[in-house]
Amino acid sequence: MNILGIESSCDETGVALVQTVPGGTPRLLADALHSQAEMHRAYGGVVPELASRDHIRRVLPLAQQVLREAGQGLDGVDVVAYTRGPGLAGALLVGAGVAVALGAALGRPTLGVHHLEGHLLSPFLADDAPAFPFVALLVSGGHTQLMRVDGVGRYAMLGETIDDAAGEAFDKSAKLLGLGYPGGPALARLAEFGDPAAYALPRPLLHSHDLDFSFAGLKTAVMTQWRKLGSNVCEQARADLAASAQAAIVDVLAAKSLRALADSGLARLVVAGGVGANLRLRETLDAGARRLGARVHYPPLHLCTDNGAMIALAAALRLQQGLADLRRDGAFDVRPRWPLDGIAAA
Ligand code: KG4
Ligand code: ZN
Repeated sequence: MNILGIESSCDETGVALVQTVPGGTPRLLADALHSQAEMHRAYGGVVPELASRDHIRRVLPLAQQVLREAGQGLDGVDVVAYTRGPGLAGALLVGAGVAVALGAALGRPTLGVHHLEGHLLSPFLADDAPAFPFVALLVSGGHTQLMRVDGVGRYAMLGETIDDAAGEAFDKSAKLLGLGYPGGPALARLAEFGDPAAYALPRPLLHSHDLDFSFAGLKTAVMTQWRKLGSNVCEQARADLAASAQAAIVDVLAAKSLRALADSGLARLVVAGGVGANLRLRETLDAGARRLGARVHYPPLHLCTDNGAMIALAAALRLQQGLADLRRDGAFDVRPRWPLDGIAAA
């Protein structure tokens, strides 16, 4: 069975075709992506109305490209999956509307997928897919959560951010340092040339007895330090501050994830979401997990950030488990706010 997945929750239009494998992990046949980052850069962040309009322009050409690359025609699509939420309402409506129209035209059912479930299950797109149960660290631009995952749709929240997400901390620190949008990857690149111990930035909630995170104070600390450096700051100081900010974010993410792993007694940690592409985070988690006799699973690097493959994959895994709420009535809604632990397994 082939599932077409459409992602349009924020500033990436993603389309992919995934094939279910009886008794095995679904296979990615083709995927295509268009990032709007360039378009939003001039505004320093995502402009929702522009995002929606661009999704409209991109989604069908991307779907055609995916089908061509997979060597399939429209009749090769058995289910059309789309991101139902969370995300920008107008952007979500584009993907959902196109998916439901395609489903109606082809006489195929549709399935609305939770965006974070897509991220969470995306390591199943890697060659060494994890087995359940595992601890998951979900780190994206809008979310920072630690979860215990016992199976598809069986998610228990262990901890989450009480203010900014980790991706936001990267993006806001990057903006302060004049690195533009989206800042995470740019900050990570600059940090390679800096000394992570140059500035003593706070590690919020590092020693709290729970698994929650807080990143809002860090942004303020970076701003204070940046102002102290003044207007004729040298390039090395900027790189040092980038490295120090990255180290502070990574230290907290890693410490809490490893504590969650140790507390749970589980031997697998899954990392998903855009910040999961961060190499320093990967190195720190890999080393820490090794000490615990555990190992860390990641999605393929290019599938850490938003994409259609994870949406098609989540739909495929739900279908395989008999947990897919397929619709054939041509109706749909989107859920701009939609907690992940609120989605039932059955
Ligand atoms: O998962 P994602 O693509 O979108 C959301 O669902 O939010 O995550 C985007 C976030 C942004 O904050 C971006 O700056 C961050 O992931 N990001 C990174 C890296 N690549 C993307 N942060 C740190 N290091 C990276 N290499
Ligand atoms: Zn995302």
